[in-house]
Amino acid sequence: MTKKCYITTPIYYVNSVPHIGHAYTTIALDVLARHKRQKGLDVRFLTGTDEHGANIEKSAAAKGVSPKEWTDEVSAKYKEMWKTLNISYDDFIRTTDAKHEHVVQAIFEKLLKSGDIYLGSYSGKYCLSCEQYYNESEMLEGGLCPVHKRPLTDVHEETYFFKLSRYQDALLKFYEENPGFLSPKFRANEIINFVKGGLQDLSVTRTKVKWGVPVLSNPAHTVYVWFDALINYVSAAGYGTLICEDKAEHEAQLKQIRADKFEDLWPADLHMVGKEIFRFHAVIWPAMLMALGLPLPKKVFAHGWWTVEGEKMSKSLGNIVDPAEVAAKYGTDPLRAFLFREVPFGQDGDFSMESFKNRYNSDLANNIGNLLSRTLNMAAKNIGELPEKIEGDYPLLKKADEVEQTIDKAYDELAFDKVLEAIYGYGGDLNKLVDDKKPWVLAKTDPEAAKAVLLELVGGLRRVALWLEPFMPTIAKEMQKRLLPGKIEKYPPLFPRLEDK
Ligand code: ME8
Ligand code: MG
Repeated sequence: MTKKCYITTPIYYVNSVPHIGHAYTTIALDVLARHKRQKGLDVRFLTGTDEHGANIEKSAAAKGVSPKEWTDEVSAKYKEMWKTLNISYDDFIRTTDAKHEHVVQAIFEKLLKSGDIYLGSYSGKYCLSCEQYYNESEMLEGGLCPVHKRPLTDVHEETYFFKLSRYQDALLKFYEENPGFLSPKFRANEIINFVKGGLQDLSVTRTKVKWGVPVLSNPAHTVYVWFDALINYVSAAGYGTLICEDKAEHEAQLKQIRADKFEDLWPADLHMVGKEIFRFHAVIWPAMLMALGLPLPKKVFAHGWWTVEGEKMSKSLGNIVDPAEVAAKYGTDPLRAFLFREVPFGQDGDFSMESFKNRYNSDLANNIGNLLSRTLNMAAKNIGELPEKIEGDYPLLKKADEVEQTIDKAYDELAFDKVLEAIYGYGGDLNKLVDDKKPWVLAKTDPEAAKAVLLELVGGLRRVALWLEPFMPTIAKEMQKRLLPGKIEKYPPLFPRLEDK
């Protein structure tokens, strides 16, 4: 059994519905998953929802429903969105799944036993309305809550701590020995400096939050939502070290929990996340894994943030982009491809409908779409039937092999923008061949030469249709179908031009 290629998105909070930001991460991973499957790899693509904690409890209360009803509803909306966006995930984990909750409890007990988790107490200034601690720098003058402008309460509560401080040196050593782990490189220093600055033990339970996984040996505490959430990556992979004295019972529980063979999946090949949660994945999660004696993921990649028409997306500004709406209007595939076109993956970017439309017209309608229809129309006239194999000394078919190397290398670097640049660039080369050779003119004087040009174009387009598939699975399949050997049919344009209204 060979190890699967195991790649993950963050699990998204269910306190609000999915927007273009969540879609971005998930589509990126879907593109990667489809590319790797094309290359023959056995891929396990995990996504899911993060469903515990005070904020979710509050969102549910605000809607007048139970947390369970609320999480069921929003989690289903995520699944619906992924269907709309044609996301080929293999597994969807919810942190309210019993199998996940068991693993969280088991891990907690295991770390309690090893001394990586210990009981202590936490003192601070707390706002009873916000249900949150505020530190000196956050509170208003006179010790007031920045939201409610009322005095904060001194709270002293019992909490369990995870001994994060224990792993400072081991983490720094790991970063040094595994330079590809923190990606992209320009985000690595921030993490390294943070760890060098000294790690504090982390409070990992709450007594005030009821909507969470209870600590098995002390149910007055629930597990802190991040500690719970990070574990999803191993619980979904079938990790199951239940702490159980009875051996037979232990085996029975393991069997129930392990749908998968953990060893075939772990360590993950990639955790893809947004930059604001890089630290959780680059510091806390690796330390948790070290405490568990598990190998660390091969890579954590933190991409940048989208703003919309220059503004941060927010409910109050009313500028949240609904990917389902864009997809319904312009198609899922063009949206999927656009998100990776202009902004180098890893950097921040700005989403605007105007640039979407411009790119649609230039990349899709004018470049690829037009090339396909011109080629097929001319081929219908001059060749009649498309052959299965296109052999011969065609410069642009040789070039396709080079382009494919560029594409594969770009995927290795998660440079999705460079993948698209290479594909569209090659489309430009093919278009230039049409313009230079003018097969419709050539056909009058030298039909054989015209035929050769058309075969070169068809051969090139077949490659393009395969390369586009990870980004535009449906349209690329249609394009492949139109280029199949046999009689050439008449087809409507693949990408009808968007006109300004
Ligand atoms: O943080 N631009 O969930 P979350 C780009 N539950 N990406 C964006 C984005 C934007 N404007 N907005 C959101 C959580 N994202 C935790 C994760 S993992 C163990 C727990 C994407 O619902 C991006 O991937 O707040 C970001 O990291 C994620 O959504 C945050 O989703
Ligand atoms: Mg967030």
